[in-house]
Amino acid sequence: MNFRRTAAGSLLAVAALVVWQLAAAGPAGALSAEEGAAGTGAAQAQAHGAQAGEAAEPYTQAPASESRAGSESSLLSIPAPSTEGAVSVEKAIAERRSVRRFADEKLTDQQLAQLLWSAQGITEERRGFRAAPSAGALYPLELYVATPEGVYKYAPGEHAVRPVKSGDFRRELAAAALGQSSVAQAPASFVITAVYERTAGKYGDRAERYVHIEVGCAAENLMLQAVALDLASVPVGAFRDAEVRGVIGAPAAEAPLLIIPVGKPAG
Ligand SMILES: Cc1cc2nc3c(=O)[nH]c(=O)nc-3n(C[C@H](O)[C@H](O)[C@H](O)COP(=O)(O)O)c2cc1C
Repeated sequence: MNFRRTAAGSLLAVAALVVWQLAAAGPAGALSAEEGAAGTGAAQAQAHGAQAGEAAEPYTQAPASESRAGSESSLLSIPAPSTEGAVSVEKAIAERRSVRRFADEKLTDQQLAQLLWSAQGITEERRGFRAAPSAGALYPLELYVATPEGVYKYAPGEHAVRPVKSGDFRRELAAAALGQSSVAQAPASFVITAVYERTAGKYGDRAERYVHIEVGCAAENLMLQAVALDLASVPVGAFRDAEVRGVIGAPAAEAPLLIIPVGKPAG
């Protein structure tokens, strides 16, 4: 991945450095590395079961936030998305299948940018509306991607990414996902988080339901986009929330809701 710094990003970097020094705060630390377990069918089933028994995280404790995690680092430009493709929506729906073993082949910047855009990219500039629908256009979702180079957070408004951490954290992410090997093996694992408070301010008790519907919409976009790029994916819901949050460097206000490993299918 060779993301370049944007002009706006360079200015932001200077401003952020001042804020950074004033705050004297450091980025969230990485968790210790753990080996991912083999991704057999039995292991995956066990992973689902373990998640079912896990206590839900008290997401309401966190204060509302614009979640500019990683704002200490500058924006990196990514290739513009394409709105033309050779694969029809119908074909992508028909061909999408959960794939858990991936070839050892990195994604290109163009592929990464296209996948990020498909989930949360701006599709109507005037009102800032995005690729996936959102109750009240409040956009509670945040999108990260872990690659061999680092963890990046998508900035939809700029169609750019902010580096959150450099280095390969896919194994740590897989460990947080109960050892699911698909997460470590995929050249890119996307993580969708949500700030429930953004939606709760307007919709109260219905916010949780709306946010969960929205993550499904964004995830399906991304998974169908993967098919259209001749790639494959799997939605991974079994993981320890706090651990995932730590690995991707997300702030406390964000609840991780889904991991989506993406890559070329193995074999
Ligand atoms: C909310 C949700 C959570 C899931 N979590 C996992 C998971 O943790 N690990 C995994 O391997 N598959 C996971 N899956 C994928 C399902 O196992 C898969 O969708 C199902 O077997 C049907 O196969 P298909 O996706 O190929 O149609 C999840 C799917 C959904 C919708």
